[in-house]
Amino acid sequence: MRGEDPTHRSFWEIARLEQNTLLIRRLEPSDLKEALEIDQDVFGGYDPTIFATFYESHSNTSLVALMNGKVVGFILGFKHTFLEGRIFWLAVKPAYQNRGIATRLLSYILNIFKHMGAVSATLEVRASNKIAQSLYSSMGFQMTGIFPNYYTNGEMAIIMKKRL
Ligand SMILES: CC(C)(COP(=O)(O)OP(=O)(O)OC[C@H]1O[C@@H](n2cnc3c(N)ncnc32)[C@H](O)[C@@H]1OP(=O)(O)O)[C@@H](O)C(=O)NCCC(=O)NCCS
Repeated sequence: MRGEDPTHRSFWEIARLEQNTLLIRRLEPSDLKEALEIDQDVFGGYDPTIFATFYESHSNTSLVALMNGKVVGFILGFKHTFLEGRIFWLAVKPAYQNRGIATRLLSYILNIFKHMGAVSATLEVRASNKIAQSLYSSMGFQMTGIFPNYYTNGEMAIIMKKRL
């Protein structure tokens, strides 16, 4: 892959996953409805304009995972400093969880951050979200700090970081 532009279509992975084809590619406007449904299912719904903002401003690092043509997960991230990428939001459709889809989305975005010159990636995760913490730890993220009262319900955020 050396020398290839990871943001180019030819780079996107088409992998066999449990007999189904998993395609990871950039978010497109036609994905919005399905992505918002997943968001609603797992979280309760972000402001839809967040997806539009990521599509317009961070298209290289706004990715969806599709299985049999349906959106089954997405990851939104951006380069928030010259040397660091940030994962903003990641979700997988409940019926498709625990099959490695988030792991693949994360691997992809981390690779893209690296090709964009980042040397590390960071994220925040709710202290109560043990599944996501387990995912991030398995991908090499380590806890580097906390933000007390970070979420609207007063919950603490755990800050995690990975060197790329
Ligand atoms: C967190 C989330 C994205 C994981 O997606 P996923 O596709 O199921 O994750 P993967 O199948 O790639 O699993 C990777 C790792 O996550 C952890 N994990 C996933 N599902 C788990 C479960 N039900 N119980 C415990 N750990 C779990 C494990 O460490 C797993 O690694 P392993 O398979 O080697 O044990 C998904 O559960 C989700 O959408 N949750 C709601 C939204 C959310 O919390 N997003 C993260 C915000 S910071």
